[in-house]
Amino acid sequence: MAIIGIVAVDQKSAIGRDGGLPWHYSADMRFFKRQTTGHACVMGRRTWASLKKPLPERLNIVLSRESLIEAQPSVIVLRDKASVLALKDYLACDIYIIGGAQIYSTFLDEIDRWLVTQVPLTVEGADAFMPEDFRHGFREVETIELEENLLVKVYERE
Ligand SMILES: NC(=O)c1ccc[n+]([C@@H]2O[C@H](COP(=O)([O-])OP(=O)(O)OC[C@H]3O[C@@H](n4cnc5c(N)ncnc54)[C@H](OP(=O)(O)O)[C@@H]3O)[C@@H](O)[C@H]2O)c1
Repeated sequence: MAIIGIVAVDQKSAIGRDGGLPWHYSADMRFFKRQTTGHACVMGRRTWASLKKPLPERLNIVLSRESLIEAQPSVIVLRDKASVLALKDYLACDIYIIGGAQIYSTFLDEIDRWLVTQVPLTVEGADAFMPEDFRHGFREVETIELEENLLVKVYERE
């Protein structure tokens, strides 16, 4: 079972603004849903807070060092990366690392594959960015065209 990073980045590696996504691309939302459904999604507490409800048909794993997060079906709260990696041994599905910036950084060394949507924008006032060189040690293996001007690049660890 793989650990897969999935992210949408602008032309300057921005991924967020004011706690949310600074764009809306339905084609990318559909791609995200198609990829992650049936799998586990690991997210930081801030990204969790940006969702209205748990991602359906997925195991929602929320990472938080101390926040109290209401118990509900399909959501588990873990306190550190080691707990996620320990859980992996018991899961029969892939683990998608779905952000935000802190969580991508935390799992950089664990990710086997990246799915990176290239958003054709440069967002003003962005405040969340991908770690520099997050694709270091990866090679591009595929390009998926979601729609005109919206590409997903797939990278595998070398
Ligand atoms: N473009 C995209 O594809 C994409 C995807 C996802 C998110 N985003 C955007 O990214 C932004 C949020 O990113 P962010 O970096 O500010 O926040 P984040 O990574 O979503 O969440 C940060 C929180 O996660 C917890 N955390 C972080 N590292 C941890 C660790 N090692 N162990 C346990 N808990 C840990 C902490 O929660 P506590 O403070 O509770 O301890 C921390 O405050 C938003 O704007 C969101 O919309 C973009």
